[in-house]
Amino acid sequence: MMTERTPLVQRYATPAEVTAAAHRMVVDAAQEAIAARGRFSIALSGGSTPRALYEALAADGAIAWPKWWLLWGDERTVPPEHAESNYRMVREALLDRIEEQPGLVLSPVAGEFALLPPEEQAKAYEAALRAEFGVPLPQIDFSLLGMGADGHTASLFPFTFALRERERLYVANDVPKLNTTRLTMTMPLIEASRRIVVLVCGDEKAAALGEVLEGKDDLSHYPAQFLRKLPQVTWLVDEAAAAFLAE
Ligand code: 6PG
Repeated sequence: MMTERTPLVQRYATPAEVTAAAHRMVVDAAQEAIAARGRFSIALSGGSTPRALYEALAADGAIAWPKWWLLWGDERTVPPEHAESNYRMVREALLDRIEEQPGLVLSPVAGEFALLPPEEQAKAYEAALRAEFGVPLPQIDFSLLGMGADGHTASLFPFTFALRERERLYVANDVPKLNTTRLTMTMPLIEASRRIVVLVCGDEKAAALGEVLEGKDDLSHYPAQFLRKLPQVTWLVDEAAAAFLAE
């Protein structure tokens, strides 16, 4: 019998405090991973919330970047220099601001993957992850996620096929409501992460966060609900996003 567990939610007054808490958690996880395994793998999320965290990491000054592996939890199907690209956001907020570069920067839309069609990008990225980690199910040290106002996380959007994917690790997910295809980690790959931290800020997220964390099971409508059964998940939220959560 699966016992209902209460997700670990840490509430902060402002997005800046959420960013500071996330910064501490990432650095602590990196030190632990590097001590234990000689490297730290992190799957980055896109959108706007994590930009301040990436800028803070770039300014940290005490990070052993050559031992870090940067992966992308999801990505838009646009060129890496496109304004909508999560790769471009990370390049601007982090990579262009540090001298020593990470030991691995593996984006599903850059380098060898750039000219492939989305479905091939997803397959090639999954194969590259398996090759880099040397195992069929990579255990990413730290998966950083966000949540949309519709309850999506990564690019696992409501009522999309990727929600049902239990074999593949990375897919091209058609998102009709955005009239686009997104590349995304699937639940099996996210669930294998050692640590998962979800950053949620802003009053526009409050209704969805209440449904995701405390609403009745409705995974199709609120995909981020799959996270609430995972013991390795911490939610870092600001008071605006937490407005509908029980005290
Ligand atoms: C993306 C993200 C996505 C994001 C949420 C929240 O590619 O957009 O990976 O899942 O985390 O949409 O985005 P904001 O932080 O911009 O609200």
